[in-house]
Amino acid sequence: MMHLASGHTAEALQGEELERQERDFQGYTNGMVRLNPGRWLFPADYTSFADKLYRFKFRKSDVVVMTWPKCGTTWMQEIVWTMKNNPDLNNPEAKIPTRRRVHFLDFDMLTSSKNIPSYENNPACMAAFRKVYPNGNIKDGVMLQLVEATPDPRTIKTHLPFSLLSPDLLDTAKVVYLARNPKDVVVSYLHHSRILRLHGYTGSMDQFVQYFVDDDLVYGPYWLHVKEALEKRDHPNLHFIFFEDLKRNNMVELRKLNKFLDTNMTEEQLEKVAKYTSFSEMKIREEAIDSLKEDQHLREDMISTEGGFFRKGEVGDWKQKLSPQHQAKIDQWMDRYTKDFDLPFPCSS
Ligand code: A3P
Repeated sequence: MMHLASGHTAEALQGEELERQERDFQGYTNGMVRLNPGRWLFPADYTSFADKLYRFKFRKSDVVVMTWPKCGTTWMQEIVWTMKNNPDLNNPEAKIPTRRRVHFLDFDMLTSSKNIPSYENNPACMAAFRKVYPNGNIKDGVMLQLVEATPDPRTIKTHLPFSLLSPDLLDTAKVVYLARNPKDVVVSYLHHSRILRLHGYTGSMDQFVQYFVDDDLVYGPYWLHVKEALEKRDHPNLHFIFFEDLKRNNMVELRKLNKFLDTNMTEEQLEKVAKYTSFSEMKIREEAIDSLKEDQHLREDMISTEGGFFRKGEVGDWKQKLSPQHQAKIDQWMDRYTKDFDLPFPCSS
């Protein structure tokens, strides 16, 4: 057992539990750890970065986009970056894929999978890294160092919950927390886990729903992740938002973000950003410069039949995908864990 700076213990998964994960998720090739309190589940490599992540120094001008996987992170990354760096849609840097402008703070722990090229064998990633750190050590975390080197104002992506990051995060930087109803999250995470080699999910939807309600997916448990954010919702540096609201009342939410981020954009600029960050426009733009493809992270065979990273971008697709049994399981999970949230998940419509 390992003691982490965050106050958590990390224990390696063993025996049947590890065998099951490694069988169903063929991308998890280097062991896994469970953190307590919280039962957070990560690839074992997390422990190499945990203390650095916890001690990561945020800056006053940072905006952190915090989400559980598949809650619309990329969408929010693009919205925040655009509002801060490209309000007139004329910044040439916007041609770089979103994920190379807004780095993923905790990504390094996911890169030890033997099913994706190592950093050394990933020319695009190495070029970005060597440009800023000609002699940098990859083992210190490529993404961590790229976040460090990003010029201010930085927009930073994380899937970590508040409890695994610096306790003074909110007193230093702004955080936009995006949540999504768990049924659409499950559908989207299943697709993602199948098409991304670093997860390499080979199991069924039944099993995946079971993993979700048992809080046994990487980055789980979702309910606790959201709960930690909801508890801090009144902090002036936290902006809590639902994917569903962003989708249905896009301009209303962009106006709120404009205020939160102090971006002072005009109504006309916001309208243009709304269109520019819409699902259809982002899909065309990002697929034309597909960095996941370039990094060889995608299973092309599945994408042709199942769709790519930009799958549907809708609210309520779960109604087409989840059986009544799956829905009942997630309802029970919600009854158990999220009934007392004072902001219920917008699931019903
Ligand atoms: P679906 O799988 O339901 O389509 P993340 O970025 O956190 O991984 O989330 C990905 C989800 O957000 C996917 O959901 C993706 O299609 C959706 N998404 C990405 N860009 C979007 C946009 N501009 N508008 C709406 N949804 C978007």
